[in-house]
Amino acid sequence: GAAAEDGERESYVVATDNAYVPFEFLDEETGELVGFDIDLMTAIAEEAGFDIEFEAMEFDGIVAGIGSGRFDIGIAGMTITEERKENIDFSQPYYDAGLIVAVHADNDEINSVDDLDGKVVATRTGSTSETYIRENTGGTPEAFPQITEAYQNVIQGRADAVIYDIPNVQYYASTEGGGQLKTVGEALTGEEYGIAFPKGSELRDIADEALTTLKENGTYADLYEKWFGE
Ligand code: ARG
Repeated sequence: GAAAEDGERESYVVATDNAYVPFEFLDEETGELVGFDIDLMTAIAEEAGFDIEFEAMEFDGIVAGIGSGRFDIGIAGMTITEERKENIDFSQPYYDAGLIVAVHADNDEINSVDDLDGKVVATRTGSTSETYIRENTGGTPEAFPQITEAYQNVIQGRADAVIYDIPNVQYYASTEGGGQLKTVGEALTGEEYGIAFPKGSELRDIADEALTTLKENGTYADLYEKWFGE
């Protein structure tokens, strides 16, 4: 564990987001930060024997803040990429995701990623989708600091489509999206989420070991079922 010499438990700042359903978001009734990432990180800290304090910020700030060593840990549905690995050490993968196209529920013109040439494609600033749109679609990326704005732009007809992480699109479409957003086509990429640590952090191995235990003892499966219902 990470117990300090004097017997006090170590405490670490965990950088996260507060608008990425169902991984980290504010509970409408209580205003509390909840979600799969929040539960998983809390269970890891408990298993490893350290305390954590979540600090919510914009996603690109998390990537930058972990890279510069400003925060000890980051959990935010962050895809493990070769580019990020230059500045960030990742845990083992903890969630399999990927990107998908979504359009207004009434749109029958865009049926897959091949129909995006010349279209306005909304997403979140600094996400893997922003790069994907630029490199693979022929569409113009329009990046927003909050993904909800991207979805709203599609629903209100100001953007043609959105590309973003499958679990977030599906969760939003079936909740706040209120039937006005639909996914089209196949998964565009396979992506794995990892917990982020500053380069060379000793905490990475400690957290990774705890994550392995949670995968083995059924805790991970319980949390997965709680948030994804499978
Ligand atoms: N998986 C994508 C990425 O790593 C999007 C993550 C967005 N996460 C968030 N908390 N807003 O770029």
